[in-house]
Amino acid sequence: MKKINVGVIGMGYIGESHIEALRRIGICNLVAIADTNYELALSKAELYGIEKVYKTVDEILNDDSIDVIHNCTPNFLHKEINEKIIRSGKHLLSEKPLTTTYAEAQELIKLKNEHPGVEACVNFNYRMNPVVQEMRSRIKNGELGDVRIITGQYQQDWLMFDTDYSWRLEPEVAGNSCCVADIGSHWMDIIQHITGHKITSVMGDLVTVIPVRKKPVNQNETFRDSVEGDYIETEVKNEEYAAVMFKTDKGATGVFHVSELAPGHGCYFGFEINGSKESYGWNQEQNDRMWVGRRGGDNSVIIRNPNTISPEAKPYTNLAMGHPEGWNDAFKGNIYAFYKYIADGCKGERVFSTLEDAAYIVRLTEAIVESSKTKQWVNI
Ligand SMILES: NC(=O)c1ccc[n+]([C@@H]2O[C@H](COP(=O)([O-])OP(=O)(O)OC[C@H]3O[C@@H](n4cnc5c(N)ncnc54)[C@H](O)[C@@H]3O)[C@@H](O)[C@H]2O)c1
Repeated sequence: MKKINVGVIGMGYIGESHIEALRRIGICNLVAIADTNYELALSKAELYGIEKVYKTVDEILNDDSIDVIHNCTPNFLHKEINEKIIRSGKHLLSEKPLTTTYAEAQELIKLKNEHPGVEACVNFNYRMNPVVQEMRSRIKNGELGDVRIITGQYQQDWLMFDTDYSWRLEPEVAGNSCCVADIGSHWMDIIQHITGHKITSVMGDLVTVIPVRKKPVNQNETFRDSVEGDYIETEVKNEEYAAVMFKTDKGATGVFHVSELAPGHGCYFGFEINGSKESYGWNQEQNDRMWVGRRGGDNSVIIRNPNTISPEAKPYTNLAMGHPEGWNDAFKGNIYAFYKYIADGCKGERVFSTLEDAAYIVRLTEAIVESSKTKQWVNI
């Protein structure tokens, strides 16, 4: 079988995770990377033994041997680079958020529809945790009953000091939201994916807790501790904390909060779904297990077991029970889902996030920002 040839643009924090995942998927072959920071790209190429290194997006797109391009650049470049990838006729795997505005996301969908040979996926990687897929399957089968209430959070601590800085705080680079667009997007995607509900009404409160930060003169890598050195005192416009109440199209209600100021949390991403028969709970920091809550019966904690897991979740788990799988495995599972879909001739269910799914998340993010400004509920 001919392998699917891949190129990755953007060799920062997440670009490296894409390389590692691609290297674990047998049906694809990573042939090239590109970054405007050419020194960085060269060092990653040497570390991972990658054949070709390009300086620009145009150079990598002109490589006719490549079938799929991953876009791992900062948010404001997603529209422009995704557009170029679609026009080139190569398949697209874009990092989230799809774009910084809903209008841009709609333009991308229109363009993709004009190129029917192009497939596209947006990297909402938590979807393909096997336990998440297990919960989705059980909800589809009616085991939880009607979904009534959905609550949860996504907390990190990497912006807790005024010496921490990221492009995610700058509207020109990240869009008009920091933590809702960055991590709230994952939360909303996973909830909609698992329950089959769509969030259709939001009431948000976005807070910039540290209004002035020390921005390093030299680029700081994402999630790295702050470094001593020259800095410029910079006014912060985007939020590092948000609380959101919401309602769904099928009558459920819920609330979540996201924070990048929660000491001790790296990726505390979790939720609880209360149904008319049972509750399910999941927490990314112990992502190999799910909690099942019952009234009038024993609660239980189910540990991922490939021998008993549902057929829908089975393709995304490999290790035997008691051998914990984790963040990297779910990440690989999501990218694998996209390549398997392409290898199968683009037939069947798109389990990964499509451009339409991801555009809706951008729309929700905009609605939450608007609601926080107007102090009103916003209906979508
Ligand atoms: N799915 C996830 O869990 C996850 C996690 C982290 C980041 N992300 C997303 O990935 C994207 C990148 O985030 P990051 O933290 O890796 O950022 P980063 O700043 O660490 O890396 C971005 C890289 O893009 C390069 N770049 C910038 N402009 C370029 C251009 N025109 N052509 C080629 N390369 C260019 C930069 O030199 C840098 O190396 C963001 O959209 C972010 O939301 C997703």
